[in-house]
Amino acid sequence: MGIQISPSLLASDFANLASEAARISHADWLHVDVMDNHFVPNLTLGLPIVEALGKASSTPMDCHLMIEDPDRWAPAYVEAGAKSVTFHVEAAAAPVRLARELRALGARAGMGLKPATPIDLYEDLLPELDMLLVMTVEPGFGGQEFLDMCLPKIRRTRELVEKHGLDVWLQVDGGVSLETIERCAEAGADVFVAGSAVFKADDPNAMVDALRDAAERA
Ligand code: DX5
Ligand code: ZN
Repeated sequence: MGIQISPSLLASDFANLASEAARISHADWLHVDVMDNHFVPNLTLGLPIVEALGKASSTPMDCHLMIEDPDRWAPAYVEAGAKSVTFHVEAAAAPVRLARELRALGARAGMGLKPATPIDLYEDLLPELDMLLVMTVEPGFGGQEFLDMCLPKIRRTRELVEKHGLDVWLQVDGGVSLETIERCAEAGADVFVAGSAVFKADDPNAMVDALRDAAERA
């Protein structure tokens, strides 16, 4: 599939989500951060807004669920129109069952790891997943500084995906910008979330193109 860019709407103008989504037509995905004020200390949006966004935008939605009890809530995001749904392993009671349920509903199943969560514990789960998300900041807020300490985990995840001959995408999220994207790509990431870098740029589509070029060059 190659390099893909998934701008995070978290850094956009929440009073104008549909027109903000339309500014990133060059992107592969629209990254939608769902936060519940429990799994992370911030509250964003949920099912009704995701459903409305899906109707308003032609870019497929990549829903990143930073919520407790994803076992209960994640499948509904597929029904609301998400083509990819990522739950956090730290919050899931039964990640295998949940990933299978998401796939059975027709979505790509993603699993996220916070910076302190190691990948090695989850090697055997990789065949159940379409995407592994390595957070490169503590989840909860945009505009945080990229954590270089996560690079070895990106590298390790890429090794494990290759060792098993899998086609699991490797997404990075948090502090991704023109400054940091090459490091992530070089370590083996192939799906790049960027919030502030894209939506605080004068021309978000031009930034999407520049990020893609930088990742492809790495
Ligand atoms: C943070 C979210 C990110 C956030 C990234 O918890 O998961 O998707 O929007 O924002 P930047 O790119 O500004 O770090
Ligand atoms: Zn995110």
